[in-house]
Amino acid sequence: MPQLIGAIDQGTTSTRFVIFDEQGNLVTHHQMELEQHSPQPGWMEHDPYDTLDSVRTCMLHAVHKLEGLGYSREDITCIGLTNQRETIVTWDKLTGQPLYPAILWSDARTLETVQQLTEKAGGNTHLLEPICGLPLTTYFTAVKLRWLLDNNLTGGAENGIMVTDVTNASRTMLMDIHTLQWSAEALSFFELDLVQLPKIVSSSQVYGHVHEGPLAGVPISGCLGDQQAALVGQKCFSAGDAKNTYGTGCFMLFNTGDEPVVSKNGLLSTVAYQFGSDNKAAYALEGSVAVAGSSINWLRDNLRVIQNTHQLNELAAQVDDSAGTYFVTAFAGLFAPYWNDTARGTICGLTQFTRLEHICRATLESVCFQSKAILDAMNKDSGKPLRSLKVDGGMSNSDLCMQIQANLLGINVERPMMRESTALGAAIAAGLAVGVWKTMDDLTSVNQQGNTVFESAISIEKRTTMYEGWMKAVESSFGWA
Ligand code: G3P
Repeated sequence: MPQLIGAIDQGTTSTRFVIFDEQGNLVTHHQMELEQHSPQPGWMEHDPYDTLDSVRTCMLHAVHKLEGLGYSREDITCIGLTNQRETIVTWDKLTGQPLYPAILWSDARTLETVQQLTEKAGGNTHLLEPICGLPLTTYFTAVKLRWLLDNNLTGGAENGIMVTDVTNASRTMLMDIHTLQWSAEALSFFELDLVQLPKIVSSSQVYGHVHEGPLAGVPISGCLGDQQAALVGQKCFSAGDAKNTYGTGCFMLFNTGDEPVVSKNGLLSTVAYQFGSDNKAAYALEGSVAVAGSSINWLRDNLRVIQNTHQLNELAAQVDDSAGTYFVTAFAGLFAPYWNDTARGTICGLTQFTRLEHICRATLESVCFQSKAILDAMNKDSGKPLRSLKVDGGMSNSDLCMQIQANLLGINVERPMMRESTALGAAIAAGLAVGVWKTMDDLTSVNQQGNTVFESAISIEKRTTMYEGWMKAVESSFGWA
């Protein structure tokens, strides 16, 4: 009987249920787009019911597709879960009803809250970094929870009960990343001492069983934040391994082994995974880019100048370069390594010559420049320059974008054939907990279908000139909020 593993991948723009076999081959999947709501500038929300429904629907359709391929639903031995991180939903403990829309990770409504907290911290946005590995910005969950309690909720002590894994907890600012426990000091700083927080568990253990639907009774045995899941799915298990995922945002994670490294160059310290509560956690340095794929959606939905990603790539490929155009996609501030909440989207370098083709190319370049800034910071922090970078996520499907990335980084960019790394990471965590794979060595043959390698094709001088222009553009994006 085949042993299959299911993975729920609940991201910002879509939900998927992916089913893998023991070799990490994708057997079948179902995906649904998720609508994001932006009721005010800088605000980003999801309807929690839409999210839940999308998970149910994806599981149902994927199971039907699986049966259509001649498998049985009983072949699914376990399920892993991976999710957008930092996003917060609060709900009524008694009724289970959400109290407010989900406030997304990319939401910037907490600018004032951050300013107040920064004042309280004596102007030091890095005050809690030795504990939680994260700076004070609008990105992380504790700041959003503080805003909810100040603006919409009363009785914070009654809200929120669930289990969360170490990787998700490490994105709240409330967990001590050394002890893997909630930090009394951080809770007191945010005045969240009375909030009931979920129990922190490892990323790989049986948490419970599916209680309804076609997979009722199947153990849920893996849970990771989506970027950490992609790190696992790319099998970056050794210190020094790194991956970059181009999703709604873009996130580069660099495995630093079993000790957290505090960045001196604007990166985050985060928990990468913990396989079982008896095992040590692995840590990562992370560089987060707030806007990647969502910039393409913005051109499509807000400016309405393209119809889809394919068209954007075609237009961008029609020109050799962006003709001096830079697009800093700071729609809600800039994340790593800049950490500037006041930055806003800026297009500069326009001339009478500039065409849509150049702006499309500058859109692709924007995420690649931000990834370069992060790679430079990682190289400085680790003291050991990275030789190649593993990539995945929507924009990595574009050969042009990956070639631009290799050009700007000056190192090889390696793209796997099977690019559902995030879902695969959740499946690996789930499968390890129930014995689909008994040791890490058993994972050697998983997802070994080969890579496409992109090598830099521009001179160092050209790269330097392009990057200098980018740095000027970044500076002009500051101070608009
Ligand atoms: O930190 C936010 C991240 O987890 C969102 O990921 O894939 O939805 O862009 P994604």
